[in-house]
Amino acid sequence: MISVAIMGHGVVGSGVAEILIHHNELISARVKTEVNVKYILDLRDFDGLSYSDKFIKDFEIILNDDDVKVVAEVMGGVNPAYDFVKKCLLKGKSVVTSNKELVAAKGAELIKIAEQNNVNFLFEASVGGGIPVLRPMVQCLAANRITEVSGILNGTTNYILNKMIVDNMDFDTALALAQEKGYAEKDPTADIEGHDACRKICILAALAFGKHIYPDQVSTEGITKISLDDVEYADNFGCVIKLIGHAELLESSKISIWVRPTVVSRECILSGVNGVFNAILVTGDQTGEVMFYGKGAGKEATASAVVADIMDCIKHIDARKYLSWEDGDSQSVADSNKPERLFVKIWSDSFEALEKQFHDTFGTAGIQFVKNKYRKEIAFITEEAFESETAEKLNSLENCNYKILHTML
Ligand code: HSE
Repeated sequence: MISVAIMGHGVVGSGVAEILIHHNELISARVKTEVNVKYILDLRDFDGLSYSDKFIKDFEIILNDDDVKVVAEVMGGVNPAYDFVKKCLLKGKSVVTSNKELVAAKGAELIKIAEQNNVNFLFEASVGGGIPVLRPMVQCLAANRITEVSGILNGTTNYILNKMIVDNMDFDTALALAQEKGYAEKDPTADIEGHDACRKICILAALAFGKHIYPDQVSTEGITKISLDDVEYADNFGCVIKLIGHAELLESSKISIWVRPTVVSRECILSGVNGVFNAILVTGDQTGEVMFYGKGAGKEATASAVVADIMDCIKHIDARKYLSWEDGDSQSVADSNKPERLFVKIWSDSFEALEKQFHDTFGTAGIQFVKNKYRKEIAFITEEAFESETAEKLNSLENCNYKILHTML
């Protein structure tokens, strides 16, 4: 028999407890030993559940019980999760987590501690919820040099953007609906400002390229500036706006990494990823592009990935799973500096002059252009050019009284 402890009984934690208890026979048969949920750590009371007797409020009970071989950390946040996880690993207990904030901030260190103590630290549920992506990327694509990882990594913002695109709903109404449906938190900052997607692209990049990239090294922009007008302009260009996380290995061996709203052609496969779904495109030098798609959030989907990691730890109780990367440094990240097309939205109180100047500066060939006379705005997508060249051209428009409202890749 193997005893397991669960730290946290929120949305994901309760899902983990329910799966482990209600599917106990199936799970025990698959790992070839009885799996016993011995403790659930939470400061709140949970009376009236079939497993209410398992709740404890003191972490030391888990730490000091040698029967407990595997611990699931599903509390979220860096503190006290970091302290608890570190102590468990040092005590020789394997740990699994869905906590992307913890992995993105402390992954390299916790992996090293796990290695030194001959236990496992697994975190499949930290990216893409129920989508198997981390393990397939490091195991099934192990023969590849991975050159790029890119995708829709946040279900809440994808839901909001989708409502704006399909139902013409404004941002605030779509956010309120996402909250009503339980996708967005009461404080939605981490999702809508891109922090959640940033943590996930850090984890993907670390696994793909072998180096820890820290969230503060990632240029991150959320979706709060996206208006219905932007959605309409993008539609005019045959595109949709998606929040994309992107990491790419440059020739210099540095990593270009960012999270930002991006104007995606309807011909690109990511444009059809709707609602709370996530999709991650991984480019290997042997396989080419591989896509992972599914529910990126939600109690059952995320708990399913946590339980699978618990089962993997039990099956490999005396072996190490090789899921690791080196610590990063301030030199790891660089701009890709390759030619890109840029979406630009400009306001001007001298609209006709701006239009003429625009044509003189950018020409018309290859540039898609749309104007909104009522708002005195023009929006256009530039030809492929280095960002610095486009910036120079935009600056040269400055004789007109204009203001750049927004630019997007
Ligand atoms: N808040 C996240 C999302 C789910 O909306 O994708 C947990 O990763």
